[in-house]
Amino acid sequence: MRDIVVVGSINADLVFTSKVRPKAGETVLGDDFKIIPGGKGANQAVAASRLGSDVAMLGCVGNDENGKFLINNLANNNVDTKSVERVDNVPSGVANIILAEEDNSIIVIPGANYSITQEIIDKHKNVLLNAKVVILQLEIPISVVEYVVNLCYENNIKTILNPAPAVKLKQSLIDKVTFLTPNEHECSIIFGDSNVQSLLSKYPEKLLITEGSKGVKYHDNLGIKQVPAQKVKVVDTTGAGDTFNGAFASAVINSYKIEEAILFANKAAALSVTKFGAQGGMPTLEQVKKFC
Ligand code: RIB
Repeated sequence: MRDIVVVGSINADLVFTSKVRPKAGETVLGDDFKIIPGGKGANQAVAASRLGSDVAMLGCVGNDENGKFLINNLANNNVDTKSVERVDNVPSGVANIILAEEDNSIIVIPGANYSITQEIIDKHKNVLLNAKVVILQLEIPISVVEYVVNLCYENNIKTILNPAPAVKLKQSLIDKVTFLTPNEHECSIIFGDSNVQSLLSKYPEKLLITEGSKGVKYHDNLGIKQVPAQKVKVVDTTGAGDTFNGAFASAVINSYKIEEAILFANKAAALSVTKFGAQGGMPTLEQVKKFC
């Protein structure tokens, strides 16, 4: 049995660092440019693996240099890449990230991430059905996300759906996932309802709303709880949500109670923002244990 399987996106992040964010129609001179590994799926896989979990990635990259670079990066982080397919005639996914004014803006071009199909999932069904926890995001086709969640639900496998980038979700999908982890903005898109209190009460111990430096809110069957985030010196917030999800999955397979699991994931996410890049600051288990 494997700890975690991540079904999701694998991107090359093209990161532009600049003091100011260009307005529409404006050109600005920036400070730095780097191409680094990213993609919400791959980031979550690396986050969980650095924390000591046994992780496999299921997804697609292109038959291009970025594809090779992204698979090597996963392998170097001890993520099993046997279920990463290389597809012809479609480039690997890329993300254009602007880091400016202490925040990021991201445009993702899914490329090969959108080549994943139900047939590819079926080909790797053994890997999927041997997982203790399956993590998904929304940078692959929603029909594939629904298919995987159904399979897991029928086979009593826990799922964590990080609904980013957000779209309105079918009620059946919400009902079948074990945990749903939107931020406040994603939450209002998914539910079309901004009353956080009533949403949390409707989905106790399922809906975890991440609020950045304010921490995470959830309902523990008695009332709403807020698990605080740790204060750190922020360098780059890219991938903080991914670190939270990967770390939360690691805590779940280690049988942490939900509040402890959120606290552990908050600590990992706090450490992740102290370094550049989506994966650059993702901590090891020892680093999280030593932190506050
Ligand atoms: O969550 C951060 C990630 O979003 C980046 O690594 C980028 O690839 C996009 O998928």
